[in-house]
Amino acid sequence: MGRVDGKVAIVTGGAMGIGAAHCRALAAEGASVVLCDVADDQGAALAAEIGATYKHLDVSNEDAWAELVAETVASLGNIDILVNNAGIAALTPIATASTSDWDRVIAVNLTGTFFGMRAVAASMKEAGGGVIVNTSSVAGLVGTPGISAYVASKWGVRGMTKSAAMDLGPDNIRVFSIHPGAIDTPMSPAGDRKPGGQIIPRWGHVDEVAKMMMFLVTDATFSTGTEFVIDGGFTAR
Ligand SMILES: NC(=O)c1ccc[n+]([C@@H]2O[C@H](COP(=O)([O-])OP(=O)(O)OC[C@H]3O[C@@H](n4cnc5c(N)ncnc54)[C@H](O)[C@@H]3O)[C@@H](O)[C@H]2O)c1
Repeated sequence: MGRVDGKVAIVTGGAMGIGAAHCRALAAEGASVVLCDVADDQGAALAAEIGATYKHLDVSNEDAWAELVAETVASLGNIDILVNNAGIAALTPIATASTSDWDRVIAVNLTGTFFGMRAVAASMKEAGGGVIVNTSSVAGLVGTPGISAYVASKWGVRGMTKSAAMDLGPDNIRVFSIHPGAIDTPMSPAGDRKPGGQIIPRWGHVDEVAKMMMFLVTDATFSTGTEFVIDGGFTAR
């Protein structure tokens, strides 16, 4: 018996990196996974491998969210789990950042997370409850130079998660933010770099983030509206 047998789960940015690990973990534990991404070839290949459904979704497209949720409910039933994972980064130092870079990062990381939560809320309520895991970062807990839009988006995800938990709690929907540190992915490849400032002196593995997600979805039944950090102790200072 899987830990999420029979549950319907949507994961954004599921084609690679941390999102792919979320999809693998949810599928292995029995969920019907809808893997969403803009990287269609990689997303479709992974979905075929793990028995998930692939859907093209740009999380910053409001109308596409409505379509995705309607199609998912029609084909698989109400949505139990949403993992808002898709994210992008861009160099946006305050003195020189372009408005277009700022807007795109906020649109994907922050507005996309809002669109996702809003789109699934009615279906989760109909199902009798659900769990939403929003992806922030250590950059949603401390400042980081050179990536002002990313930091703003991730602090925004963290704060919005608390409001969402309060709004959706009466419908038995728990909402969390997760805060990865240095995780080896296509966005942030370890290469020869050593992660600085951590207590555990190594890069994190994508599966270590997926294990936290699975804990929140299944076992964290008296928690909501709060932060869960997977950073090797980076923010302990
Ligand atoms: N890797 C890290 O060290 C780290 C640390 C903290 C937080 N995070 C966060 O974790 C999440 C996943 O990061 P990752 O390192 O796996 O990144 P990644 O770049 O390896 O993967 C991100 C995925 O999101 C998809 N994506 C990008 N824009 C999209 C859009 N508009 N709509 C739908 N999908 C889109 C990409 O195609 C890709 O498959 C992000 O939100 C990121 O900010 C990562």
